[in-house]
Amino acid sequence: MNRQNRYVVEAHAYTQRSKKLEWNRLDLVRRATLDLAAEEIDRHQILGEIAEVGVFQGDFAVDLNRVFPHRKFFLFDTFSGFHQNDIEKEQKRGFSDGKQDFSQTSVDLVKGRLLFPHQAQFRPGYFPQTALGLENENFCFVSLDTDLYDPIIEGLRFFYPRLSPGGFIFVHDFHNDQYPGVRAAVEEYALENPISYLPIPDIGGSVVIRKPMG
Ligand SMILES: C[S@@+](CC[C@H](N)C(=O)[O-])C[C@H]1O[C@@H](n2cnc3c(N)ncnc32)[C@H](O)[C@@H]1O
Repeated sequence: MNRQNRYVVEAHAYTQRSKKLEWNRLDLVRRATLDLAAEEIDRHQILGEIAEVGVFQGDFAVDLNRVFPHRKFFLFDTFSGFHQNDIEKEQKRGFSDGKQDFSQTSVDLVKGRLLFPHQAQFRPGYFPQTALGLENENFCFVSLDTDLYDPIIEGLRFFYPRLSPGGFIFVHDFHNDQYPGVRAAVEEYALENPISYLPIPDIGGSVVIRKPMG
């Protein structure tokens, strides 16, 4: 059993006992790590907005918006599931079949869940095209959770140069054997750019990238 699966099993067992939440929505490690990163960002008064690429129904977006109530929040998703361009590249490189269905969502559904919806700037459509026009923005926190190689590496290429010193990028699914393209994208970006990352034992097996304080 790999690390990711061990945590999945533990979280599932916990949820069976608590009978409250679906196991995949209960990711206490991911949420607690986010809370601590947000504290760091606030304590050091790190400037910039926040963003998530890969929102689906907004489970993590709700937490991002909760811990950063005073920051503009850019939400990127097709809101209709994986894009055919990405699926084709994914299959060609033998990463995943791209068959998981993420179509059951909408901008209104996610907006209705946010505590501070006035901060939300939805960018529906195909990322990175939906980032056009945001070249002059700066970010203190970004969540990349698109599962597939192409939008992960494009996300790193777009956001890392615009990340404030001391800011964070969380990349979900780095240790998820179902989506090996995520790890490939991070490792490829790290070969070409001076980034380092810390694995965390959340359900997706995320890695946390932090830009040096400068
Ligand atoms: C695993 S789900 C996101 C889960 C969400 N972050 C959460 O915590 O519940 C992945 C999402 O990425 C989106 N996605 C993948 N590739 C994309 C792309 N190139 N452009 C926009 N959205 C994309 C999919 O539509 C899907 O909703």
